[in-house]
Amino acid sequence: MLKPRSAAQNLPTYHPPLGGRHGLRLDFNENTMGCSPRVLDRIRNIGMEDLARYPEREPVEIIAAEQLGVRPQELLLTNGVDEAIHLICQTYLEAGDEVLIVIPTFAMYEIFASGTGARIIKIPAGKNFIFPTDDVLRHITTQTRLIAIANPNNPTGAAAPLKDLLLIASSAPNAAILIDEAYYEFHGETLLRCWIDHPNLFVARTFSKAYGLAGLRAGLLMGCEDSMSVVRKVASPYSVNSVALACVPEALRDRTYVEAYVQEVCEGRDRLQTELKSLGLRFWPSRANFVLLHVGAANGAFTHGMRERGILVRDRSRDPGCEGCVRITLGSTDHTDRLLKALRETLSQVGAPRQEVHP
Ligand SMILES: Cc1ncc(COP(=O)(O)O)c(C=O)c1O
Repeated sequence: MLKPRSAAQNLPTYHPPLGGRHGLRLDFNENTMGCSPRVLDRIRNIGMEDLARYPEREPVEIIAAEQLGVRPQELLLTNGVDEAIHLICQTYLEAGDEVLIVIPTFAMYEIFASGTGARIIKIPAGKNFIFPTDDVLRHITTQTRLIAIANPNNPTGAAAPLKDLLLIASSAPNAAILIDEAYYEFHGETLLRCWIDHPNLFVARTFSKAYGLAGLRAGLLMGCEDSMSVVRKVASPYSVNSVALACVPEALRDRTYVEAYVQEVCEGRDRLQTELKSLGLRFWPSRANFVLLHVGAANGAFTHGMRERGILVRDRSRDPGCEGCVRITLGSTDHTDRLLKALRETLSQVGAPRQEVHP
């Protein structure tokens, strides 16, 4: 076998299922209804010539910037947030640099950062997955070149106070601070435009969650003009395909659709959390479109029981601090009805332990 770079050889493996996800998919934090009908109409109007040409991202970046209230120079369309993370790593990390992540969190920070040969420093979240601001501040050194934070975090649903994130940004002026706002729409708090005072700050957003376009692979990376002009050099000019480019403006314009969906999800989140409380199950209050709950040793049987009832949920037991935990995505009201019914049946079947209810 051809010898790979040691950074590639030593990468941690992340193997999400890439097939066979049949049923109501509450395992990947996707939109359970799909995208706006206006987006589908746009796709139906894509012609042969549109696909024959290389994608032209610039006009779409102008529209996206206008919709988000930033300048086009501050924004780059990406092939999902995944590409945004990759680009930040490629732009700022050298072998041996230090990268801070708070665990448990989204797997791709570690994977893309490790690929550069950087050293990953994992800071465990506090009790009940509270964001460990003081610990992060303590770990900042002159070698720290990236701090990647999902806000709200996946898989816990916990959010960090924005003022703490800004304090981290000003305490690590030599590091890129990537705030991944993939679940922004369900949380409502953002650091958008804060790069004006904190030029090392970047914000990423996705079309994969609230917008229901995970299959298209579209995201946004935003930051100050100077930094983004360097990130742009690292990016492929064609990483966002023409179909995605055609859909992004429609997705952004149909605010009514996204707002109505987000409202259903947030109501479903309240219903699920109320149900878990009344069942005496431990869970962590969430600011995203999913809830992490603890079913203990029954986690395998629980996941299996839900699958038998046609609902996929994600066993997160392997994440640090998440032993016996399962993550459940919220979707439309109908889907929450189905979820709650299956949840009650499965729990009475597998007999999850009654535990201290989380505040
Ligand atoms: C925190 C976080 N960031 C990014 C992503 C991936 O986003 P995208 O589909 O835009 O690559 C996910 C997906 O689960 C996520 O949880």
